[in-house]
Amino acid sequence: MTVPLLEVEGLSGAFRSPGGEMTPVLFDVGFALQPGVITAIVGETGSGKSLTALSILGIQPPNFQRSSGRILFEGRDLLALPAEEIRAIRGRRISMVFQDARAALNPVFTVGRQLADVHRLHHGGSAAAAMCRAIEALRSVAIPEPERRARQYPHEFSGGMAQRAMIAMAALVCAPRLVILDEPTTGLDVTIQAAIMELIAELVAERGLTACLITHDLGVVAETCANVVVMQSGRVVEAASTEAIFTRPRHAYTQRLLAASLLEDSAEPVPA
Ligand SMILES: Nc1ncnc2c1ncn2[C@@H]1O[C@H](COP(=O)(O)OP(=O)(O)O)[C@@H](O)[C@H]1O
Ligand SMILES: [Mg+2]
Repeated sequence: MTVPLLEVEGLSGAFRSPGGEMTPVLFDVGFALQPGVITAIVGETGSGKSLTALSILGIQPPNFQRSSGRILFEGRDLLALPAEEIRAIRGRRISMVFQDARAALNPVFTVGRQLADVHRLHHGGSAAAAMCRAIEALRSVAIPEPERRARQYPHEFSGGMAQRAMIAMAALVCAPRLVILDEPTTGLDVTIQAAIMELIAELVAERGLTACLITHDLGVVAETCANVVVMQSGRVVEAASTEAIFTRPRHAYTQRLLAASLLEDSAEPVPA
């Protein structure tokens, strides 16, 4: 067994309503991320996937209150670190891609400028050198004409292009050990989804990245993910290799998710 890059242990917590009542949403969540592969976290909307991811980065909503848990990364418990140490890890060692890339990009700066600024923040160097690295990063995620694209603003990018630019930022410009992708293809059309998944798989294979892919769609994990963590109602109900999940799902909920993803596939139009 290889040593996991990150381990979540016994993570529990609740949301506080404005009236002060606590609603528990995470129950003893635990799983491990093995280095150099993609692990999927799957589960229907509201199962606690995003909250788990945000907890890893220490950016949970202010009304979320953790009651227990440890998140071990490179030998340290992220949940016990002082704020400035977490800030140093966020971006540099662990980065995140959110569902809506265009909303995550700043509308008033060009895409190239934003990538270059993040590059300088993490690696220093001149503005011109950072812009060259930004353009290289856009090229690596198969954005055509990266020099021209770098001078454009986020609104000039399609959803799929913006998502590629965010992946370039999180996985290449930041050069992290771990990238967390929270529903990076939700809302994009099926062929673009597939191209983005392929891109993520390539980056992981070629650069020794470790990735955690959050999705509510088991269909997208089959080809790219080594391991799967299944969450339901704030709990991990099953965690295993992708092969085991697809061939021998043990939990009834996993079986239902699989059946649902098979149904969706067969609902696609059959060529005449
Ligand atoms: N800011 C918030 N305030 C109150 N409840 C929240 C907030 N964000 C998420 N929740 C609740 O926490 C649970 C887990 O949410 P989330 O982690 O976003 O689920 P997922 O990403 O799997 O769709 C859900 O029941 C959701 O309604
Ligand atoms: Mg979510």
